[in-house]
Amino acid sequence: MKTAVPKVYRNYYRQRTANQWLKVKAEVGDPGAIRPFLAGNWKMNMIPRSGVALAARIFDICKDIKDVDIGLAPPFTGLSTLADYIKPDFLRSEYGLGRNVFLLAQDTFFESKGAFTGEISAEMLAAIGVDRVIIGHSDRRTNLGKYFGFGPSIAKRLSRAFLTQELGHLKAKEGVDPQILAALEHLTAEGNQDILAGMARFLEEEMRERAGESDEAIQKKVQACLTHGVQVVLCCGENREAREAQETFSLLDRQLRIGLEVVSPRTAGEVVIAYEPVWAVGEGASPAKPEQISEVHDFIRNLIMDLYGEQIASTIRILYGGNVKPDNIVEIMNIPGVDGALVGGASLKANDFAQIIRFGLNT
Ligand code: PGA
Repeated sequence: MKTAVPKVYRNYYRQRTANQWLKVKAEVGDPGAIRPFLAGNWKMNMIPRSGVALAARIFDICKDIKDVDIGLAPPFTGLSTLADYIKPDFLRSEYGLGRNVFLLAQDTFFESKGAFTGEISAEMLAAIGVDRVIIGHSDRRTNLGKYFGFGPSIAKRLSRAFLTQELGHLKAKEGVDPQILAALEHLTAEGNQDILAGMARFLEEEMRERAGESDEAIQKKVQACLTHGVQVVLCCGENREAREAQETFSLLDRQLRIGLEVVSPRTAGEVVIAYEPVWAVGEGASPAKPEQISEVHDFIRNLIMDLYGEQIASTIRILYGGNVKPDNIVEIMNIPGVDGALVGGASLKANDFAQIIRFGLNT
């Protein structure tokens, strides 16, 4: 027997009742109707040629789909080639798609040019046709310490020799915080080597686990994108530790308030939010439960209402990310607060991502 799949609204308005945001069916093409947004984050996968081949296979299975926005986020090296391939005229004649395919970058740097070896500015991305940039992905917010070994260099600074030297320099300066001097005097005193060594190891671990992009850096990136006419997919999400300590909401509140501080009511329409609980992202993890997703999405939408009012809160798109697959996309899109998905692993398989884009089509 075929199991009944709940009907998902592919276009809808939002209505607020109590603290809940409901989806109300709209006709496809109604002005102001919310369009779902399904974005594939390829992370560090695909060379330019294989990226185009993947996109072609996805479009082939998604022919004539116009009422869903599709996002593709190749690595930097794949952007130009994909930008050339997804020209609207070509997509219309070849696949019957509308202007609903968007090119996403996975990150940007906030300065516009200069001596920042290896970085890419929002201005540069705009120049090659990037529509939106993913900012604050958890891979960058929390995992960079692991990759770049921030820990050891910080920990080395906690040696007695280094701190004694620093203390000498600071004492010779004017206006140094007396608390810093007192702490350094204390730490460099005879007999405190064990404490220093322990602190060094502790910090090394902490940095390896946690070091990454700060909320402040993320805010600057949001600003840089908006200044150059590039839209933003702003990611937020708690790790397992924060969820277990019941700090999910306070953490999301902080991430979003800081990230959005530079977004005015006029530019809020350029921002999509992606809620990605870190513990639900990646191979081997399970997606968050519908009730967890629903309560966070409502929380985020109420925060947006606080910041920008009801009109923007009812139209801003909030995506869910974390193990979205063909077999759970209908359930996820059926959650009242969810307007789309940011998809990692499954976006690398044409069939899977195409099914995710086509969610609910045959129900
Ligand atoms: P996942 O990744 O779908 O592989 O869990 C989601 C993401 O990191 O955006």
